[in-house]
Amino acid sequence: MIGKKMATALNEQMNHEFYNSRLYLAMAAFFHDLNMEGGAHWMELQAQEETGHAMRLYSYLKERGGRIMLEAIQAPPMEWDSPLAAFEAAYQHECSVTKEFDQLVELACAEKDNATLNFLQWFVTEQVEEESTVDAVVQKIKMAHDAPGAIFMIDRMLAQRGQA
Ligand code: FEO
Repeated sequence: MIGKKMATALNEQMNHEFYNSRLYLAMAAFFHDLNMEGGAHWMELQAQEETGHAMRLYSYLKERGGRIMLEAIQAPPMEWDSPLAAFEAAYQHECSVTKEFDQLVELACAEKDNATLNFLQWFVTEQVEEESTVDAVVQKIKMAHDAPGAIFMIDRMLAQRGQA
């Protein structure tokens, strides 16, 4: 059975991941408003992935006999200054999520909870990919220098994102 401290921390992270899903859904709506359907599609898939992250934590807590605690989820921001600003915010957000998992790993070590330490490795690897995927889009938009033709091409590229 999982310890109380670890279960509380994993519950917090599960609630953060539900927030992350809403944040990306808000970004999807923002891109939809800009008629950038590729960007909206990319963000909708990301929102689904984040729900998957939350459910992974949910299932683990259930398996280890931890009490699942769902909290109120705060409203995400709905507006950004530009497509670049939205992806830059997403990148900064992913960096902060990486720190959250680093802290969970530290707690699992301190608690000598090897099962949770092992479970968290999936997220550690996932965060490397999450940061790198978002950063790649940021760099492409920066190279486009707001040229409408280039932004159109980037939107088409974003539309090609497939299910993970
Ligand atoms: Fe679940 Fe993108 O962090």
